[in-house]
Amino acid sequence: MLESRSFDILSPEFHANPFPTLDRMRADGATVRLKLPIIGRTWFAVTYDSCAALLKDDATFARDPGNAGSRTQARILGFLPRTIGLLALNMLGHDDPEHRRLRGLVDQAFQRRTIQAMKPMITEIADRLLDKLTGRTQVDLVAEFCRDLPLWVICAMLGLPEQDHDRFKNWLGRLKDTADIAAVIRAIPGVIRVVRYLRRVSRPGGGALPDGLTVALRDAKTDGQTLSEDELVSMIFLLFGAGQETTTHLISGGLYALLSQEGQLAQLRSNPSLMPTCVEECLRYVSPVQMTKPRFAVRDVVWQGRQFRRGDMLAGFLAAANCDPAKFENPHVFDIRRHPNPHLSFGTGVHFCLGFQLARAEAAIAFERILTRFPDICLNRDAQKMVWRKRLGIRALAQLPVKLVA
Ligand code: HEM
Repeated sequence: MLESRSFDILSPEFHANPFPTLDRMRADGATVRLKLPIIGRTWFAVTYDSCAALLKDDATFARDPGNAGSRTQARILGFLPRTIGLLALNMLGHDDPEHRRLRGLVDQAFQRRTIQAMKPMITEIADRLLDKLTGRTQVDLVAEFCRDLPLWVICAMLGLPEQDHDRFKNWLGRLKDTADIAAVIRAIPGVIRVVRYLRRVSRPGGGALPDGLTVALRDAKTDGQTLSEDELVSMIFLLFGAGQETTTHLISGGLYALLSQEGQLAQLRSNPSLMPTCVEECLRYVSPVQMTKPRFAVRDVVWQGRQFRRGDMLAGFLAAANCDPAKFENPHVFDIRRHPNPHLSFGTGVHFCLGFQLARAEAAIAFERILTRFPDICLNRDAQKMVWRKRLGIRALAQLPVKLVA
């Protein structure tokens, strides 16, 4: 049985060019078993079809290990500080009907029409951030734009005051490299501070702005019931976390792909109506979220030609599915005209990303505003080599050094 010794999926080298490793994985079949730090041995669905099938088959695979007879997560949560343990109460950790109840409370806030109405606000934020770069020649766009835009947007949506942005950045700053247990432990105090902050602001009179989603969720009712305080904090933390990093890496990774492939950039400049297909191709090619959260077999089952036992853990390797030649022509090629582009970057099935419209809107606005405001932008080739963070399941550029003027 092949294991992680043959597949290094953590190193900056893998993140710089994941395609050869992902192709080798798929050559071994629809599923491979890898040994991961902290999590241990896990199966991954690595072809397009197996990955989509796993995520859609919630009758065979549960998100909550408790529904597959496993007590391990519950035991681990019992050891963790309560502040961290409550984070497992969010919709992504639950199966239906709990999942449906929690998602139903926020679905409307993320619908197409609502996100459409947010576009002027997102554009204004992008322009305010880019105003600060005017007159500069060399900047790191990750530090000075790509991290801030999604943070400001999700804070505006949740009604979290602008003066607190820098505190969040400090608290979550240690979540950069999380590929080993020591790095995760170092990140815990910052996460605890964020959770405490969210608990405080979400209480009546705690500081959340009245027209934001935090207050709306506190008052929302399904079947006559409101969220418990722990559920509310867990929900806001999920939206706050899921809404930031992922989009940051889509914008930085997408810009890097565009700036390093001048032919593609020239096409986008001469034909701005290509923006929607360009954003989809950035999602596929960058695959900022490389893998899903694990699923657990609810019964013994022969699946994709292998025997799985009740409680066995499987995850979808989205980045591998997104470059499966059985689904995508020339999958290693970055082609902003690619259409159709049925990538799995937002997952699929009941846990399909809630924020997909928001992420698409932010990326399109970010690309459009940067290219309009800085028509001569190019990669700063004098700067150090591109560095990718040592992350599990997240494809994250550490910096994006650019020259803004020729
Ligand atoms: C480029 C940006 C993004 C990517 C690539 C992405 C990717 C994903 C993926 C792959 C999943 C499914 C995980 C699984 O099945 O285990 C997911 C779920 C989720 N995402 Fe996103 N996401 C992005 C942006 C956002 C944004 C902006 C938000 C909103 C604030 C958001 C909120 C969520 C939530 C709440 C879930 C859980 C949905 C559920 O359990 O029903 N995401 N996302």
